[in-house]
Amino acid sequence: RGLEKFVDELPDMPRLRGYGVAEGGALVAGNLTIGMYDTSWKFHRDLPATRVFAYGASRETATVPGPTIEAMRGVPTHVTWVNHLPARHFLPWDATLTTAVAPGARGVPTVVHLHGGVQHSSSDGHSLAWFTAGLAATGPRFSPPPYAYPNRQPPGNLWYHDHAMGLTRVNILAGLMGAYRVASPGEEGPLNLPSGAALDRNLVLFDRNFRADGALFMNRTGNNPDVHPQWQPEYFGAVVVVNGKAWPYLRVRRRRYRFRILNASNARFFRLRLSAGLRFVHVGSDSVYLPRPVATDAFLVAPSEIADVVVDFAEAAAGAAVLSDDAPAPYPGDPGDKAETVAVMKFLIEDAAAEEPPDTSAVPAALMPHYPRPDAREAATTRRITMYEYAKNGTDEPTHLYLNARSYMDPVTETPREGTSELWEVINLTDDNHPLHVHLALFAVLEQRSLRRVVEFRDCMVRRNDARACGIDRHLAGGRRHAVPRQERGWKNVFKVRPGAVTRMLVRFKPLSSADASPEESRFPFDVTTGPGYVYHCHVSLAVDLPS
Ligand code: C2O
Repeated sequence: RGLEKFVDELPDMPRLRGYGVAEGGALVAGNLTIGMYDTSWKFHRDLPATRVFAYGASRETATVPGPTIEAMRGVPTHVTWVNHLPARHFLPWDATLTTAVAPGARGVPTVVHLHGGVQHSSSDGHSLAWFTAGLAATGPRFSPPPYAYPNRQPPGNLWYHDHAMGLTRVNILAGLMGAYRVASPGEEGPLNLPSGAALDRNLVLFDRNFRADGALFMNRTGNNPDVHPQWQPEYFGAVVVVNGKAWPYLRVRRRRYRFRILNASNARFFRLRLSAGLRFVHVGSDSVYLPRPVATDAFLVAPSEIADVVVDFAEAAAGAAVLSDDAPAPYPGDPGDKAETVAVMKFLIEDAAAEEPPDTSAVPAALMPHYPRPDAREAATTRRITMYEYAKNGTDEPTHLYLNARSYMDPVTETPREGTSELWEVINLTDDNHPLHVHLALFAVLEQRSLRRVVEFRDCMVRRNDARACGIDRHLAGGRRHAVPRQERGWKNVFKVRPGAVTRMLVRFKPLSSADASPEESRFPFDVTTGPGYVYHCHVSLAVDLPS
C-alpha cells in the first residue's frame, strides 16, 4: 500500500497522423485502423501490470490512454474502430440499467464517440450504435465503421472515448479513451505558442483504485443493491494517473510549455494548482481557442473538460513544482469548497543547456478574437431542461435520473433547427454538479443563478413529473448569481451545471466559422437530419443521456 510518488516518467502517448501527404505535399484524407485490445498496462513502477482494455494501432502498441490522433483542419480522418475484446468484461456492470447487452451476454459492447467532434451522427458514436468483437452483435442504431471525421471545425482539443449504452463508465474505467487534436498551422503558427512534441503535451488525468496485485478495483455492490445490484453512479480512486502513470514526473527546462489537460475521470473534479509560484495562462477551453488568454493560479476541470494552458517555468521560484488538486470528491458544487491537497504530478525544472536556443515562444494578447460573440438575441427559441433524480419507494438513494420527466428511451423531445441558436435554461434539481456535454453543437454560458425554493420545486417534480404544474416560472425568479470563470467564457462543449441553479446557455446548431460550413452558409458540412441523431448528457458516468 502507498505507492511512491514521482518515480515514473510522464509518457507521451503514441501519435497517429490522421491525414496523408500526397506527392507534392498536398494533405489528403487519412485512414486509420484502431483496435480495442484486452491487454495489460503498467501504471506504476511498483505495481504489477494491470489488465486493461486499450486502444492501439496494434495489440503491441495499445496504451492507456490510447494514441493521440493528430488531425488537420479541413482534412478528413477516417477511423476503422475494431473491437477485439473478449466474451466477458473483467469489470462489474449492471444489467438492470438500460444497457447494451449482446445476445447470451457474449462480447463487450463498445462504440467510439469523438468528443467535441463535428461529424455526421452515423459516425458520432451513438450509445445504441454499439458492436461486439467481429461485429457479432450490434446495437439498434449501429452504422458500420469506418467513422468519418471531417475535421471541418476550428483548431482545438478533442478526445475519443467509449460511449456504449450503460457501459460507458465501465469501458472508460477499463482504459478506452484517448486524445485527439485538430491543428490548423496557418492560424496557429502566427500565435507563436510553445510547439513541437517536447513543448506541447497532452496530459490525460484520471483517478483509479488498484488492488495489491495490480488489478483495477471497482466496487461490485451498488449503492442501492435491491434496485440495481451493481450500479454506483460515481467512481472515485485514490491514485491520480497522468498519461497512464501514477503521479509521474516530467523534466522541463526554464521555458514555456503548453499542456492540453483533459480530465478523463468518471466522476472526479480536479482543481489544479502549481507550486513554486507558477501560474497557468489559458489559451483554450474544451475544443476551442479563447479570444484572449486568461491567467489563473488555480482552476477547476470537471470530468471531460479540457483546459489548454501555457506554463512558463522560467518564472519558477524553485527547482521543482508540483501540480496538485484540492477539489472535494464528490464535488458538491461550490467553487469555494476545498478538500485536502493531493499531488497529481511533479515537474523537475532544469536550466537550459548552453547550446540550446533561447525561448522565443509567446502568448499573444489576442488568440482567436474573430469567433462570434455569444448574443442571446439570436436565439430562435428557449428550452427549459429540468434534471432531477427519483428514488424508488422505500429507498433513499436516487435510482432514476430524468430530464424534463423523461428517460433515455422515451421519444426524442429536442429537435433544434440547423442553422439556428437556442437558449437553454438547464435547471439542476439534483444535489450534484453535472458536467453537461452537448454533442455536435458548441455553446456559451451566459449566466448561472441559484433557484429560489428549490426543495419545494423538487418535491413537487418528484411527485408530479410536471414542471409547469409545479410552478417553474415562480421558482426561476431572481436567485443569487454565480460568475462564470473567465477562462470558461468562450465556446465550450462541457459546462459544470451547479446544483439548485439554473444555467442559461446559448447553444449553436451551426458551425462556429463560415469557413467550415457547407456552401449553404450556416449549415454543417453534412446532413444532420439523417442518421441516429445526437445526444446531450451529464459526463459523470454518462447516466442521463437523451437524444437531441
Ligand atoms: Cu464525452 Cu457523449 O460524450
